[in-house]
Amino acid sequence: MSKPARKQQDPTLKLLTERSSCRNFYARKIPERVLSQVLEAGVHAPTGGNLQPYSIIRIEKAQTRSKLAELCGQAFIGQAPVDLLFCIDWHRSRRWAELEQAPFTATDSFRHFWISFQDTIICAQNICTAADAVGLGSVYVGTVMDLMPDLRRILRLPEGVLPVVLLSLGYPRTRPSPRPKLGADVVVHRDWYRELPARELRAAHDEKYQHFGFEMKPEKLKRLEQACRKAHGAKFARECVDGILRRGHINMAQQYFGLHYFADVMPAHNDMFLKWMREFGFGWFRKWRPRR
Ligand SMILES: Cc1cc2nc3c(=O)[nH]c(=O)nc-3n(C[C@H](O)[C@H](O)[C@H](O)COP(=O)(O)O)c2cc1C
Repeated sequence: MSKPARKQQDPTLKLLTERSSCRNFYARKIPERVLSQVLEAGVHAPTGGNLQPYSIIRIEKAQTRSKLAELCGQAFIGQAPVDLLFCIDWHRSRRWAELEQAPFTATDSFRHFWISFQDTIICAQNICTAADAVGLGSVYVGTVMDLMPDLRRILRLPEGVLPVVLLSLGYPRTRPSPRPKLGADVVVHRDWYRELPARELRAAHDEKYQHFGFEMKPEKLKRLEQACRKAHGAKFARECVDGILRRGHINMAQQYFGLHYFADVMPAHNDMFLKWMREFGFGWFRKWRPRR
């Protein structure tokens, strides 16, 4: 079901279907003219109400890039000549509203939060595609979400500016082949949502991940058992482990949801994120009281 993208003739379609994330960069600087073009392409992205409630922190100082690489545990962040941090930014809009004597409640509104999150990502993706178009490589870094307070301090982010994602950018030393994806036949539903039969659903994922299995090392098995038990109880955990012992390997879904994104830990982080949201000046998750 997931097949290699059809060879495209149209240069834009070719760019979009043959792209891949790059994690290996030359130290070579990106000429200002090239980087400006790429950044300009970002700010032309669609944005709710044409408001552009985002900012991009362009990080080029070697010391800051190294610090981020260390904090994220991902060396390529330091290797890339430029890292772009995409942030929701209601601070700039608030200041504008104040200057123009306009009422302003955007940071207390989930609607505004939701749209600004999308605006930020759409801008980032325009930049990502523009970077590919001029021969640069890039990779998103989502783990910056665990570093919100550090980023706030290091990058001097004011209240209302919330880091969303980092994009490391540079000239690629190597460019990996495009990774297999679920095909459009799996993710597109015509006119209404259709449940894929279990057999097809599994086949599509097996094809995407090429039946990849992970060795059942005792410590991994123990960690997975714990995640299963905490998330769904002892019976589920036993059945999961029995299945692995029968099959002889940990499957891709178990690896993803049990061991990579620990199922027993992820939801426990919610309180921390809500606390940070408050500290960053957002209040959409509590009962609204006008700030006078
Ligand atoms: C929101 C988001 C966060 C990501 N975070 C990371 C990350 O922290 N580290 C990393 O190496 N790759 C990260 N990636 C890149 C993905 O791993 C990559 O897009 C995926 O494996 C598919 O590969 P491809 O981009 O080459 O098609 C992220 C991608 C997205 C969209």
